[in-house]
Amino acid sequence: MSCVHVNLAERSYDVWVEPGLLGRAGALIDQAGLGGRRTAVISDERVAGFHSEALLGSLVAAGCRPSLHVIAAGEVSKTMAQAEILCRDMICAGHDRHSLVVALGGGVVGDLAGFVAAIFCRGIPLVQIPTTIVAQVDSSVGGKTGVNVAEGKNLLGCFHQPHLVLVDPQTLRTLPQREFCEGFAEAIKHAAIRDAAMLAELAALDPDGREVPAELIARNIAIKARIVEADEHETRDIRALLNFGHTIGHGIEAAIPYGQMLHGEAIALGLRAALFLSQRHCQLAPAASRTLLDLLQKYHLPLVLDAAIATPTIIEKLARDKKFAAGNIRFVLLDAPGHAHVSEVVTLADLRDAIEHLREVPE
Ligand code: NAD
Ligand code: GLY
Repeated sequence: MSCVHVNLAERSYDVWVEPGLLGRAGALIDQAGLGGRRTAVISDERVAGFHSEALLGSLVAAGCRPSLHVIAAGEVSKTMAQAEILCRDMICAGHDRHSLVVALGGGVVGDLAGFVAAIFCRGIPLVQIPTTIVAQVDSSVGGKTGVNVAEGKNLLGCFHQPHLVLVDPQTLRTLPQREFCEGFAEAIKHAAIRDAAMLAELAALDPDGREVPAELIARNIAIKARIVEADEHETRDIRALLNFGHTIGHGIEAAIPYGQMLHGEAIALGLRAALFLSQRHCQLAPAASRTLLDLLQKYHLPLVLDAAIATPTIIEKLARDKKFAAGNIRFVLLDAPGHAHVSEVVTLADLRDAIEHLREVPE
């Protein structure tokens, strides 16, 4: 079994990665010192249909007393109103400050359940059991939790590190094709900013299959873990590197009704825009850009922006993004595959050009 330890002093935790782990979740939760608690399992209707039975069975067997709380699937559920409903459901189900939250699902469930765990009775422990590629390689690790508002993505939230993360690659087998592929935008981002050698591994994988080696997932988690360890609260321009492709990506996601485009699809467009600006401002080689775009295309990710999504709307949304510090645009640029930095050279005109560039079909 692969284990990535996230070293954050008293907030340290382990991320276990192994096929079949879901059925052993109860025992591993017990082993981590979290057993015997009332446990609120938060999931969405699709994931719960496939995977809640195995999880609940293993929790009961381990002496945890679970209640199941199911939300509607998709980004539309990532709201303050839904967080309040979950908290009140948990109170009605008898949960208190000694309870545990287990998030079973993709990034939406993980971010929302993490936020609920952070605010319920001023904070209770959290276990993440991610079931999408986005969640397994990225969102379940690092402690960012939160919800969206109409003005923008993830604008309400807080840091709340999980106590344990259990990754079972077999849960990916039930993912539809589109949801499977979208997650690779985040893995390609990791390769772009920190691990150029991983590009070849991603290129070798079959995007139409569902078999993702545990080692590849663990390699992504390790990239994220080392970044989070170095800059847990994103104050030192290190964790901000994980926002590569996200400035314009989040702007696009917020410019259309939530859920219309999957997160990874918006990030793929954001990555193309960031590559365009990296070529303009730090001489990123066109061939390197091409390699990354080819990989996004291999995973059937969109590279061309719908004409109906207006540039001023995207600009308005991204100007509210947390990545805009005191009006300055802090934008992640790529010098070469594996090497990124946070820059302040990008102007508003650059952002407009980059968004317009997305209207053209790549050569
Ligand atoms: P998601 O959670 O909406 O999942 C996508 C779809 O797949 C949903 O319909 C879901 O029901 C379904 N699904 C999930 N697992 C399944 C399975 N195993 N089998 C069948 N269906 C399954 O979306 P996502 O792409 O996983 O996550 C996107 C969210 O993650 C966004 O809100 C984004 O902001 C957030 N995010 C957070 C961080 C972080 O650091 N906290 C990082 C990246 C992304
Ligand atoms: N997904 C960006 C971060 O965790 O910082």
